[in-house]
Amino acid sequence: MPLARPAPAPYAAAMTQHQRLLIIDFGSQVTQLIARRLRELHVYCEIHPCQKVTAGFLADFAPRAVILSGGPASVTEPDAPRPPRELFTLGVPVLGICYGQQVMMQMLGGRVERGTGTAEFGRAFVEPAGGDLDLLEGWFTEGREQVWMSHGDHVSALAPGFSVFGTSPNAPFAITADPARHFYAVQFHPEVHHTPKGTRLLENFVRIAGFTGDWTMASYRDEAIAKIRAQVGEGRVICGLSGGVDSSVAAVLSHEAIGERLACVFVDHGLLRQGEAEEVVSMFRDHYNIPLIHADESELFLGALEGVSDPEEKRKTIGRLFIDVFQKHAAEAGGAEFLAQGTLYPDVIESVSFSGGPSVTIKSHHNVGGLPEKMGLKLVEPLRELFKDEVRALGRELGLPQSFIGRHPFPGPGLAIRCPGEITREKLDILRRADAVYIDQIRRHGLYDEIWQAFAVLLPVRSVGVMGDGRTYDHVCALRAVTSVDGMTADYYPFSHEFLSETATRIINEVAGINRVVYDCTSKPPGTIEWE
Ligand code: XMP
Repeated sequence: MPLARPAPAPYAAAMTQHQRLLIIDFGSQVTQLIARRLRELHVYCEIHPCQKVTAGFLADFAPRAVILSGGPASVTEPDAPRPPRELFTLGVPVLGICYGQQVMMQMLGGRVERGTGTAEFGRAFVEPAGGDLDLLEGWFTEGREQVWMSHGDHVSALAPGFSVFGTSPNAPFAITADPARHFYAVQFHPEVHHTPKGTRLLENFVRIAGFTGDWTMASYRDEAIAKIRAQVGEGRVICGLSGGVDSSVAAVLSHEAIGERLACVFVDHGLLRQGEAEEVVSMFRDHYNIPLIHADESELFLGALEGVSDPEEKRKTIGRLFIDVFQKHAAEAGGAEFLAQGTLYPDVIESVSFSGGPSVTIKSHHNVGGLPEKMGLKLVEPLRELFKDEVRALGRELGLPQSFIGRHPFPGPGLAIRCPGEITREKLDILRRADAVYIDQIRRHGLYDEIWQAFAVLLPVRSVGVMGDGRTYDHVCALRAVTSVDGMTADYYPFSHEFLSETATRIINEVAGINRVVYDCTSKPPGTIEWE
């Protein structure tokens, strides 16, 4: 997880030399998907909140094209968010999506009306209207196209220069454009999967804007290395390794950039999975020859967690100790001015909140927060422009083994939050063995890569069972497996009954101390992925 950081500078123009597309965010739930689709097309794009995008920002950013996202506001309100007027005189293609369409139409002289019972949510079909449009090349091959709508307001009069190119029963202006100025405005969401040919539309848009698809991981790797060298100079860098993909990729990339001046610290808090510490140490020391301090601090952590059963107290204890331990070992590593960490782009995007007020803390995420202030360290964040799957692609580019790249995420507080209630060594040991059997089952059935995250949880209850001719009174193990794109929302994985019964049988037979297995079929929300 990222550190809290000061508000960013207006726009760090040196961030990338790629052709850039700007996404102005008006607070849609799916704005990140626009960026995902564009990155898949090898187009470099950034999301910035509408409040921040001023005329000066636009000039600095120098986008080759701009997309206006959807959003929950109504342009019929006087204080509705709007992009700067200068956007429309930049001379670059603009695509407005949903709210983006409405704001564009209103600012350019059209009219938008408040929804009065003609709202359209979910699946709809758009039919062609009018002549050819470059944006629609390869569209309407079936006569009509499925799209995903989510709007209350609608455009009721087009701005001068615009014509209609597609209509749906409730959105007569579903696809509109001013072809001469390359302004396009659609009522539906091309970025979501429920608009099956949405990517084609975005692909046409970036082609019209002259993007050549210059965003590749091979070029990113070289640029990132050059950037790390420029930032660090002759300085030294430390990197906290968790064994996860992000910190591993950040470490290997930093090592390529500055070699021996990187030191990695791997804190083993005694809450890791079976074989995990050995795997991380062997990969970094033997495979990459990267200096690694393996700090076995399990006594310290488990001692401090004795008698602690409150989830937040567990998290805070682990977070606090982690900082102390990391600091101690980092100092031994020869002193450093920089801390490398695997912050990703979704952690950096400043989300737009129209509700105001702080959001509720669900869980205090464990991270190395506080270190830069305490130790006077500067951050090196070579992945802060990337999404998770791009980090995986970069990891492949750097030669990390697939077994590492494809690993499910593992939380900083480790097994402590998968062992609700008080933690004991005995419970951790049982949990580790059950988890190993479960993951082995998932791998044997070829399901590992379909699942975002899977793990066992050892419940703080015992149940009565019968094994052989005897009575048992043992632990209950819950199995969790979810699919997700980013961990923000998740669905439970629909294992077959055969898989579940085979896995339950194996766990009970192979792991002494467990006599009952249950499967958690809660999605997020309302549940969270981890149990604590
Ligand atoms: P929740 O349980 O909040 O988890 O639905 C969402 C994702 O975050 C991971 N997670 C953490 N990762 N430090 C981390 O680095 C943490 O403290 C932490 N807590 C949860 C969780 O495994 C899931 O992938």
